[in-house]
Amino acid sequence: MSKENRIKAPRGTSDYLPERADRIHWLDRRAGEIFGGYRYRRIITPTFEDTALFTRSIGESSDIVSKEMYTFEDRGGRSLTLRPEATAPVVRAFIEHNLGSGVLPAKLYYFANMFRYERPQAGRYREFWQLGVEALGSPEPAIDAEVITLAIDYLRAVNIKDIELKIGSMGDEYCRPKYTETLRKWLESKSDALCDDCRQRLTLNPLRVFDCKNPDCGSVLDGAPKIIDNLCADCGEHLNSVGHLLHEVGLDFSVDPKLVRGFDYYTRTTFEIQSANLGAQNALGGGGRYDKLVADYGGKPTPAVGFALGVERLLLAIDHEDEAGVLAETKIDLFIAVIQDDFREEAFKLAIEARRVGLSVEIDYMARSLKSQMKMADKIGAGHVVIMGPDEMARAEVVLRDLETGQEDTVKLIGLIETLKRKGLG
Ligand code: HAM
Repeated sequence: MSKENRIKAPRGTSDYLPERADRIHWLDRRAGEIFGGYRYRRIITPTFEDTALFTRSIGESSDIVSKEMYTFEDRGGRSLTLRPEATAPVVRAFIEHNLGSGVLPAKLYYFANMFRYERPQAGRYREFWQLGVEALGSPEPAIDAEVITLAIDYLRAVNIKDIELKIGSMGDEYCRPKYTETLRKWLESKSDALCDDCRQRLTLNPLRVFDCKNPDCGSVLDGAPKIIDNLCADCGEHLNSVGHLLHEVGLDFSVDPKLVRGFDYYTRTTFEIQSANLGAQNALGGGGRYDKLVADYGGKPTPAVGFALGVERLLLAIDHEDEAGVLAETKIDLFIAVIQDDFREEAFKLAIEARRVGLSVEIDYMARSLKSQMKMADKIGAGHVVIMGPDEMARAEVVLRDLETGQEDTVKLIGLIETLKRKGLG
């Protein structure tokens, strides 16, 4: 096959080669530790769902539903969609498995790949990973403050600095419809200055005009009435309480009157965390409250709140000092080198035995010379090398070299693994 005809990964997707995969795995492990400290437990849902799950919850007029879903018909004629986000799937699972009858709030987290047909650019891909939490069951502002604090604590724990937290409110079923009408009227008076998309949004769902990326619309919208100035007393109080609690735990934030996120399911609190180091795609993550979603899907009314962080954006924002910590974990305890080919079987057996008791071990499978084996041991970051040479092997011994200090000892082959363990390997 000619070079031009080679098949490549689809546009907007990437292979995550071992080093990057290790860093992603490390982010996942840190999430398990930190989220676990807040009693969140992992949930894994299917990669695809019934299309209706997303069209109903995210909103027909949202960019995600109208332009970005990977929707297909399966061989049985069902319409399925690769998940563009995980809140709706978690809500579906919550209802389907009756998690509402357990301890509330149900606290769940996920680390999963999402799919959106967006224009790829730095920080924006068609397949990407999200790390998110959902807390279902409580309307209290304290749980909003908890999930926001959890997001920030996590970002700090993975060494992401220069972050900015913005919070807002989408109101509720009492104040939002009134506000939407006020906004619609205002937008109608400005419709000549809006793009075609926005004019359409104006009839379908006026709030969606705030998703518009057209700078001309942006400057018109600067003067638009803001939901934050039109909240009812309860929603205003809820937002104030969230802000108060965040303040009490030492988090800096600003209230953003234009923070209208791209999903219809939000009620009350919304928030976004931005990084100054990310360029155009500066949102590390975002979330909010979705008090009506469980009931909309036929579950018992259950208020809920959550967020998701973009894993690729975390990697872009992460402080590089931290990489040493990640890479150290990929080191190999031991390399077993042979001077003569007839020791290869012995090396193979010793490697397996040592791995079975928990050491990370490598040997040569490429018929390398001793010199090349030593180079390989160095390249893969082995801490120690066992060298099987004819003189030592004749006495049932091997040479053990500490690659960090250069120190060499002759050690007995019998009991070698115990000797290695005594030296703190594994
Ligand atoms: P979202 O704001 O659409 O929220 O996505 C959360 C984060 O995922 C974004 O801030 C960004 O970091 C990352 N992200 C989104 N699209 C892409 C993309 N195309 N490429 C790379 N990264 C991307 C949600 O998905 C909600 N489900 C969050 C939530 C949970 N709300 C309540 N609970």
